[in-house]
Amino acid sequence: MLRKMIVGAALSLSLAAGAQQNDTKMNSFITNLMKKMTLDEKIGQLNLLTPGGGILTGSVVNPDVEAKIKSGKVGGLFGIIGVDKIKQAQELAATQSRLKIPLLFGSDIIHGYKTTYPIPLALSCSWDMSMIEQVARLSAVEASADGLCWTFSPMVDIARDPRWGRVAEGAGEDPYLGSQIAKAMVKGYQGNDLKANNTIMACVKHFALYGAAEGGRDYNTTDMSRLRMYEYYLPPYKAAIDAGVGSVMSSFNEIDGIPATANRWLMTDLLRKQWGFKGFVVTDYTAVNEMIDHGLGNLQTVSALALKAGVDMDMVGEGFLNTLKKSLQEKKITQSDIDIACRRILEAKYKLGLFDDPYRYISTDRATKEVLSTDKREAARRFAAHSMVLLKNNNDILPLKKSGTIALVGPLANNKSNMLGTWAVSGDAQLSVPVIDGIKNIAGNGVQILYAKGANITDDSALVKMGNVFGEKISLDSRNPQQLIDEAVEAARRSDVVVAILGEASEFTGESASRSDISLPESQRNLLDALSKTGKPVVVVMMSGRPLTIQKETEQATAFLQAWFGGHETGNAIADVLFGNYNPSGKLSMSFPRNVGQIPIYYNYKRTGRPQAENAPTQKFRSNYLDVSNKPLFPFGYGLSYTTFSYSGIRLSNTSMTPGQTIKASVTVTNTGNYDGEEVVQLYIYDQVASVTQPVKKLKGFQKIFLRKGESREVSFPISIEELKFFNSELKWVAEPGDFKIYIGTNSDNVKDASFTLK
Ligand code: BGC
Repeated sequence: MLRKMIVGAALSLSLAAGAQQNDTKMNSFITNLMKKMTLDEKIGQLNLLTPGGGILTGSVVNPDVEAKIKSGKVGGLFGIIGVDKIKQAQELAATQSRLKIPLLFGSDIIHGYKTTYPIPLALSCSWDMSMIEQVARLSAVEASADGLCWTFSPMVDIARDPRWGRVAEGAGEDPYLGSQIAKAMVKGYQGNDLKANNTIMACVKHFALYGAAEGGRDYNTTDMSRLRMYEYYLPPYKAAIDAGVGSVMSSFNEIDGIPATANRWLMTDLLRKQWGFKGFVVTDYTAVNEMIDHGLGNLQTVSALALKAGVDMDMVGEGFLNTLKKSLQEKKITQSDIDIACRRILEAKYKLGLFDDPYRYISTDRATKEVLSTDKREAARRFAAHSMVLLKNNNDILPLKKSGTIALVGPLANNKSNMLGTWAVSGDAQLSVPVIDGIKNIAGNGVQILYAKGANITDDSALVKMGNVFGEKISLDSRNPQQLIDEAVEAARRSDVVVAILGEASEFTGESASRSDISLPESQRNLLDALSKTGKPVVVVMMSGRPLTIQKETEQATAFLQAWFGGHETGNAIADVLFGNYNPSGKLSMSFPRNVGQIPIYYNYKRTGRPQAENAPTQKFRSNYLDVSNKPLFPFGYGLSYTTFSYSGIRLSNTSMTPGQTIKASVTVTNTGNYDGEEVVQLYIYDQVASVTQPVKKLKGFQKIFLRKGESREVSFPISIEELKFFNSELKWVAEPGDFKIYIGTNSDNVKDASFTLK
């Protein structure tokens, strides 16, 4: 034992010494390089451009960008796809610029690169950290093989408002789950060695609080107390920093009246001084310039403010490039402000190994082998199946039998163009497997399939226009709505079961895609009304990038599967789940509201001084609504399986603990149904009396377990003082003695409980 400890200590000492040596080597390399750099070349490193103006088909060697690269005015590029184009651009920097400093090549690799996996919100519903790490790993392998070394991911903005279209890109409403996912993704992208040619640098975004935009309207103002910020919104960014993320992206919104991009408290005091972040900060797209509209001054002023705040790289807007020299002359900024930023960019390039070999990530052989490879397509199918959430399954209608007649209806049943979801910038939608093909692949010859479109995604011409901004996602049928419905009803009448593939168009979520009404479009509601009147069992499969208000739809449906946008393998994965090749195990990472008026809605709410009693109807002078319950339609953590699980009561190893002790909370979970299956066992804690009001529950642990039919397993969670801490009114992370409740269960609303005391 002692020997092990000595060997362990010696190993960590030698690792630390090695890291220090590397740092010294890097520092002296960069110091030497910076001695040779002119002021213009230093400012050039802070400039991030996209040659196509944001459109990925744009030419790499657009004359303006080409000239700028050659004269050392560009630090990195994004929006260039393909190893040949990237090579061409890197050659300009590495052979034709004076100091031959290589460029960074970034991209929004958000849920896969060319092989597209489910949207991040879907992935988060798997609660499977090794799977999520693998998503990032495979994305890095594929993107790095195609020349890229930097991704603008993970997006970890906590969101409690499904009107906000960008909830699709994040991990939902909970800081604990969000933090675990942030860590897993950083690890997956960056691996253990950033220099390896199959790892890429991650960029955690959007720092900070972007998910709290008022009214769910994108880019809108945010305003919140420090307590809420520290306790609920900041932890996932911090988790990414602790996991060693190489870069951070500033958000568009303001914080305490100062846009994040000029917020020195955020970018320097918190990020660097408190959290110890060592990488570089890039702005979001034209975020420097947008501070003119925020009302902070002209480009000259806002660029200086951003640099002073601690921002290192300016995305697209060229405020740094065009104004910093003058600001230096006017003494608005110092030489050292520029040097620090420039050094951070050069450090990133050094850590990625670009100074050893600017073409490290550029290999046609690797591109041919890795891009869109079979193993990634297979993984995409698995990831998608594991991300779906079964919301209802009456009469065990699912899994479907591989016999009889199925009416397959709905505007998304035979559709390739919406399967990828938002932010799939390099994914080719035409490579998607539509649901009809997936069902035919799995169902086999014993099943007759009657297909009918049934409805357009929407008939609302304003929505059609917005849904089609990046090409036709919503095609309007030449037949009128009634004819479409009639055909679907006819198919339903001739079948044993109806499978309706409904939902949003992919452009209804994502950036600049907020909706004030998050119901299913009317055309599809009408279709479902007509189908449910046939009396046939109706299985609804819902594709969406956000929780929708689907109270009536879930009542009409016999079974309801929330499939999100599943990526390239959507059709096969849906069929795998519908026919029971995979038993669904997803759990919601965001509450589903009953109506828009309940928003913001989240499980970790505060009790208030006039709490509504559990399951009580609306009461006068209590915190509730006259017209709707306080409870969501489906709570955080909810999701069914084809099997059932029972939970024993909680066993505590002790009912009191001192600060140095750990107690163990255990339950026995039994698979009581007819299928093998997975369950996410969730641990929540409630601090009953504290100096700062505490939410009714906080997620503090979870384990995803597999149980064979009939099998039981003991699941234990260690609870130490760390799980009991919160931010007090001085923003100190503390635990206070007193009584705590522990909840363990299958979702945030269905739990067993036990109590203990912290002495
Ligand atoms: C988005 C970022 C994205 C960037 C670059 C911005 O509009 O907010 O999430 O990384 O564009 O594409």
